[in-house]
Amino acid sequence: MFTNRTDVHEDARPSSFVPALGHAALTPLYAALSGMTRPTLRRFLRRTGIEPDMTVLDLGCGTGTLALLIKQAYPTTRVIGLDVDPAVLEVAREVLARAQVDAELHQGTIETAEFPPGSFDRILTTFVLHHLTTEEKRSMLAACQRLLRPGGQLHVADLGPPSTALMKLVSLPLRALGGERVAANVSGAIPTLMRAAGFTEVSQVSASGSVLGTMTHWSATLPAQADSARPGDHQGRTR
Ligand SMILES: C[S@@+](CC[C@H](N)C(=O)[O-])C[C@H]1O[C@@H](n2cnc3c(N)ncnc32)[C@H](O)[C@@H]1O
Repeated sequence: MFTNRTDVHEDARPSSFVPALGHAALTPLYAALSGMTRPTLRRFLRRTGIEPDMTVLDLGCGTGTLALLIKQAYPTTRVIGLDVDPAVLEVAREVLARAQVDAELHQGTIETAEFPPGSFDRILTTFVLHHLTTEEKRSMLAACQRLLRPGGQLHVADLGPPSTALMKLVSLPLRALGGERVAANVSGAIPTLMRAAGFTEVSQVSASGSVLGTMTHWSATLPAQADSARPGDHQGRTR
């Protein structure tokens, strides 16, 4: 078993980094606000196909809300939260400790984190991709592809194409603030980028209206034949 641990490397944040609420001074508020996303995250989690004893990465874990929900729903999973922001990870560490939940926290990007290839059965990432430029999205998805085991699945929840005229209207402020980062999500680029990264069975699991726009759940699978394409993948399995 491992304990709540936060490895902090201040310089891991890319210069283009956008904090959880858009400004570093607002980060302490995120834990309180993330209570509002809990029902959405619970619904998302039920459709991720997580099974007992799986190893699950919560990519861009923020204040640890999803990591906590995963451990509560599937206590025998190994859950690793990764986030680039040391301030948000400090809050996550407190949230997990208070709930006496045993999860591992790492600071950094998935590209620089030292996880062996094929480490994860599931990678879950919620409300992170709209923080990234298209190039950063590509790079993150390629790293997910390397770190999933063959047959493993990536699950993304984030802003997607507006499902109604009202959702188009509602998403306008975030689109104005987020520029290219948000526009790629809203224009439907996420599934295309997933396929380009080598994922198959890319599908939209659900889409529902929210105060920020249409929240969408996409899933994607790493083909099983990646086994032979990536020799040695299993050498470094973390379980
Ligand atoms: C809006 S918050 C979402 C947090 C959490 N996933 C949730 O659902 O509550 C976005 C998070 O992504 C993190 N983040 C942004 N860019 C990142 C990157 N390149 N690598 C890892 N984390 C990143 C931010 O630090 C922030 O905590």
